[in-house]
Amino acid sequence: MRVLGIETSCDETSAAVVDDGPRLLGQIVLSQARLHERYGGVVPEIACRSHVENLTTVIERTLAAANLRPGDLDAIAVAHRPGLIGALLVGVCTAKALAWAWNLPLLAVDHLEAHLEAPRITGRTQGVAVAPPFLGVVLSGGHTDLYRVEDGARVCIGATQDDAVGEAFDKVATVLGLGYPGGPRIEREALAGDPNAVPLPRSLLGRDSLDFSFSGLKTAVLYAWRGPKALSAGPVDGAPSRPDLAASFQAAVGDVLVAKVKRALAHTGLRTVVFGGGVTANRYLRERLERELAADADLVVFPAPEFSTDNGAMIAAMGQRLLREGRVANFYLDAEPTS
Ligand code: KG4
Ligand code: ZN
Repeated sequence: MRVLGIETSCDETSAAVVDDGPRLLGQIVLSQARLHERYGGVVPEIACRSHVENLTTVIERTLAAANLRPGDLDAIAVAHRPGLIGALLVGVCTAKALAWAWNLPLLAVDHLEAHLEAPRITGRTQGVAVAPPFLGVVLSGGHTDLYRVEDGARVCIGATQDDAVGEAFDKVATVLGLGYPGGPRIEREALAGDPNAVPLPRSLLGRDSLDFSFSGLKTAVLYAWRGPKALSAGPVDGAPSRPDLAASFQAAVGDVLVAKVKRALAHTGLRTVVFGGGVTANRYLRERLERELAADADLVVFPAPEFSTDNGAMIAAMGQRLLREGRVANFYLDAEPTS
């Protein structure tokens, strides 16, 4: 079954077609990062306009890349939640219009569930077969969530109380003058730094808590760079080097993620962990999580880097699952800001 997936929940305009497997037949991801860079974060109105301007071309180019025509498709899947409401609406309206015009079933995909579907996709590398029950961990710009995933059910057992992990990367990058998007820039800067150079807090909350908090860590980086009251516009005299601070921040995030996932595994008794979301593109964090969870889990699964950050393929792959289960949406489908 060939499913076209449409993703417009934030600042990537993406479409993809996957076949059974799920196997990628073609994908286009158009990043809006350049448009938002000068503002240091995503501006919702700019995101919506850019989706409107580009989505139909992105879909046409995706079909061309897959060497397919609309008549070759079996369904259209769209991310309808969670995300920026206006941005989601562009995808939902487009998907409805195409499903109507091409007489195809419409599939409503939850973006977070799709992130956890991403490791199964075969693209440039082979996907990994993984079946529930498992611990699902979404590490993205909007979410830091732990889920107990069982057949047909996904229960949130931990979430961030303030900044999402990707948001912390983005804000720390802004503080350090590295620009937007922050995640990849912090990762690159950290390569030349010492992860033990700057003492930074690791917030684990209560002894049994599965929730996260990154705002204290973010503020500690701000004070280390700009002085105790952050009165200076740039680094104060005696501030650590930028690579050392980036590496120390990244190491603190790594410690927290490892500790919380270990806790969640012990708490649930699960032995499989499925990671998803843009932050899993980070090689340092991936390697640490893989290595340090080896004794706690039998299987630790990550998406291929091409399916870590927002992409149409994961929406199509999740849509394929919905289609198989007969969970087809109708034309009353609406965009929803939360999951
Ligand atoms: O999943 P995603 O593309 O969008 C959301 O659903 O939010 O995640 C985007 C987030 C951004 O905060 C971005 O800075 C972060 O993922 N990210 C990274 C890396 N690449 C993207 N964070 C750390 N290291 C990276 N290499
Ligand atoms: Zn995402």
